[in-house]
Amino acid sequence: MIVTIERLGHLGDAIAQGPSGTIFVPQVLPGEVVEGEVTGDRMAAPKILTPSSDRVRPPCVHFRTCGGCLLQHASDPFVEGWKQEVVRSALQGQGLEASFRPMHVSPPRSRRRATLSGRRTKGGALIGFHARASDVLVAIPNCILLDPELMAAFPALEALVITGGSRSAELSLTVTRSLAGPDVAVTGGKPLDSDLRLALARVTAEHGIPRLTWDGEVVALHTAPMQQMGEARVAPPPGGFLQATPQGEAALLEAVSEAIGDARKVIDLFAGAGTFALPLASRAEVHAVESDPAMMQALDKGWRNATNIKRVTTETRDLFRRPLEPDEFRHVDAVVIDPPRAGAEAQMTTLAKSGVPVIAAVSCNPVTFARDARILLAGGYRLDWVQVVDQFRWSAHVELAARFSLPKVPRR
Ligand SMILES: C[S@@+](CC[C@H](N)C(=O)[O-])C[C@H]1O[C@@H](n2cnc3c(N)ncnc32)[C@H](O)[C@@H]1O
Repeated sequence: MIVTIERLGHLGDAIAQGPSGTIFVPQVLPGEVVEGEVTGDRMAAPKILTPSSDRVRPPCVHFRTCGGCLLQHASDPFVEGWKQEVVRSALQGQGLEASFRPMHVSPPRSRRRATLSGRRTKGGALIGFHARASDVLVAIPNCILLDPELMAAFPALEALVITGGSRSAELSLTVTRSLAGPDVAVTGGKPLDSDLRLALARVTAEHGIPRLTWDGEVVALHTAPMQQMGEARVAPPPGGFLQATPQGEAALLEAVSEAIGDARKVIDLFAGAGTFALPLASRAEVHAVESDPAMMQALDKGWRNATNIKRVTTETRDLFRRPLEPDEFRHVDAVVIDPPRAGAEAQMTTLAKSGVPVIAAVSCNPVTFARDARILLAGGYRLDWVQVVDQFRWSAHVELAARFSLPKVPRR
């Protein structure tokens, strides 16, 4: 069958119309004419008859086989335009419009956290990503996505898999760059016993792994795996959220800082381990709220050990079930809100009635962002700007920061 690609769906798959409905086609671009066999609603192996002018040679040698990246066959301007359009159309779906600030894209080799897979082989171990829509594991020695410090950790990861992987099982290895070296959390390995604990501890010492977590249990802690957050240093709990690239984090922080201006009293909602709260505390008092007690403890400890920053208080609270009520925002100059993919419907509903002059919102899901933005706008806020921040280069993932403000009226 021959079809012309109409558009990319929001998961990055190209979409065409066939005689009996929508067809999904991998690794092709809008406007391309492609030919191939269609099974169900998929054309798995398209032959490109007419290529798009946005098509480029994938910069990574692994792109053909590795499923870690999705959009390396498209030019950077195309991907940027497409990601911005994903946000614009999510807003349009709620009847909203926005002015867009220039987009920020993280450079290649900047991903400081990744979840890799590993398994034992006859000669040792294989670490990599899965092939697209497959359980085949692909080695990625020349990956251009991951931070060089993560790439340098591969021998350590191989040693962990050889030591703690069973013959048949595949392990999941989350590696995060920290100031002390690669912080590693593994699941799917052999059950812990005293011999395995000793062997794993030996591997971590030999390979400079500051902390190793095995199926949720910290089995080695040589040095706290610190992250710099403004003037403070924080050791997030194993698996705790962290922005994907330092450059993306800096761009989000810059957008948030600009949005809240000279606010002196700030509430940071869904605060994590303090990515925004601690740097903002250089100039404002911050109350940080988040549901994970370990994240709140890490933030608090980081603040206590820091000098030259203002007061940061913490509160462990489920903001889906128990959002802050309008009167809890009294005397607050600005709110920062960075919820998970589900968004923050309940919290936005009370925030819309709060009278807080400025809200800096960060989101990893344009659809829930647009839904929540509409709640704020219905409460009298205006959407001043949106900035797309792409920390997930070559993927279909879209993140953004935005500023909402209340036209100047007397505070309730
Ligand atoms: C996208 S992360 C942002 C974290 C932080 N702002 C940062 O940039 O590192 C969302 C955070 O919301 C927290 N979270 C998830 N569900 C929550 C809930 N129901 N109530 C409060 N916090 C929640 C997660 O633990 C996570 O730290």
